[in-house]
Amino acid sequence: GFVVILEKSGREFVIPEGKSILEVLRDAGLDVDFSCEQGICGACQVQVVDGEPDHRDMFLSDEEKAEGGMMICCSGSRTPRLTLAL
Ligand code: FES
Repeated sequence: GFVVILEKSGREFVIPEGKSILEVLRDAGLDVDFSCEQGICGACQVQVVDGEPDHRDMFLSDEEKAEGGMMICCSGSRTPRLTLAL
């Protein structure tokens, strides 16, 4: 697992093995955009502020990844903490 930090509120969420960032945020009652939950539609894209995502989607180009985009329905983190522009 790893920890996600939301930049605006400072809230922190533990993302356990087998759960997506999207699932954890929705379970907490946050209103986040999503659709396919399979890494193909692009609806759940967020900007990474700090940390290194483990990209597992089929949506983002290498350029978009380099610019800090990530898909929270399916991608994880290579770093223990990941700060998102949410
Ligand atoms: Fe479709 Fe994440 S919900 S890519």
